[in-house]
Amino acid sequence: MNNIKNILICGGGLMGKNIAFVMTQNPAYQVSVYDLFPTDVFGGIRTSTKQLVERGVITEAELEERLSRIEFTNDIDSELVSRADLVIEAVFEDMQIKRETFAKLEARCRPDCIFCTNSSVMSPSEISRDLKYRERFVGTHFWNPGHLIPLVEVVKSDASSDEVAQTVIDVLCSAGKKAVLCKKDVPGFIANRLQHALWREAISIVEHGIADAETVDIAIKNSFGLRLPQLGVMENSDLVSTQLTWNIHDYVLPALEDSHKPSPLLAQMLEEGKMGFKSGEGFYKWTPESSAKVSADLNDYLIRMVYGK
Ligand SMILES: NC(=O)c1ccc[n+]([C@@H]2O[C@H](COP(=O)([O-])OP(=O)(O)OC[C@H]3O[C@@H](n4cnc5c(N)ncnc54)[C@H](O)[C@@H]3O)[C@@H](O)[C@H]2O)c1
Repeated sequence: MNNIKNILICGGGLMGKNIAFVMTQNPAYQVSVYDLFPTDVFGGIRTSTKQLVERGVITEAELEERLSRIEFTNDIDSELVSRADLVIEAVFEDMQIKRETFAKLEARCRPDCIFCTNSSVMSPSEISRDLKYRERFVGTHFWNPGHLIPLVEVVKSDASSDEVAQTVIDVLCSAGKKAVLCKKDVPGFIANRLQHALWREAISIVEHGIADAETVDIAIKNSFGLRLPQLGVMENSDLVSTQLTWNIHDYVLPALEDSHKPSPLLAQMLEEGKMGFKSGEGFYKWTPESSAKVSADLNDYLIRMVYGK
């Protein structure tokens, strides 16, 4: 049990609006969104949850009831800000803006109000550096789309208290998220470290002519990628035995990519303007239709996986 009732989302953009929707999953929470600029949070939530309604995950009536528990303000001096028990910040990914935002919040919120930052890469220790009550500050790294990806990494800073981290985990779990603790404030937290270790090797395979980009994706999707949601890598290591894991690593690790810099292939692609969806070409060629289809298919897949619909 926790004593959290009033949750403030600071920044109602792509992530903030979906986080606001997520937090309404628990009817005990009264959710507010504060944004510096006028922003249609309600229209944004209706758009991002359209597929959930179409697929019967929630009814139109449930969506409207959840929207009725969200309030919006452009006024940082609003009572919606000062009454907050917990704030999740999702403003621009800019250290200065984040520090200034938390300084303003600290001047207006109670000293026991919990502060969370949704930064994808920035250190919670650095963001909270100048705050007075640093023990009540943690990272809460939601993944995009925030209403469909279950994981939230709760990241302890060099000053977060265990109690605050646990309360935040409890609050997130009570709103249906899979919240996990990242005990140390390290770049990439947990899941992006794992993800980008794989991306580094994938890009290296293409760079060294071992296989083309499409083949890399086919290999992942049709082998270990298929079993990952069911069998985690640590479970898999036990399944095959830690002895076999040791033998494989002893043989293969010396051959794997271990560069501490982005791949020269990526740098060359950037020079050639190959930016992916944005420019119509990256590792693949894209049209507006094919790139829109990738995003729609991903949402469809996530709804099937997460909600079974
Ligand atoms: N987009 C992603 O895939 C993703 C994934 C995980 C985490 N994040 C993180 O979430 C945060 C928000 O990202 P986003 O993609 O939602 O950005 P966004 O640009 O869509 O939204 C940011 C919102 O913050 C508002 N804002 C800016 N400055 C403000 C201020 N001083 N006070 C109040 N509101 C302010 C903006 O008006 C905007 O509505 C970033 O830290 C980002 O790294 C993003």
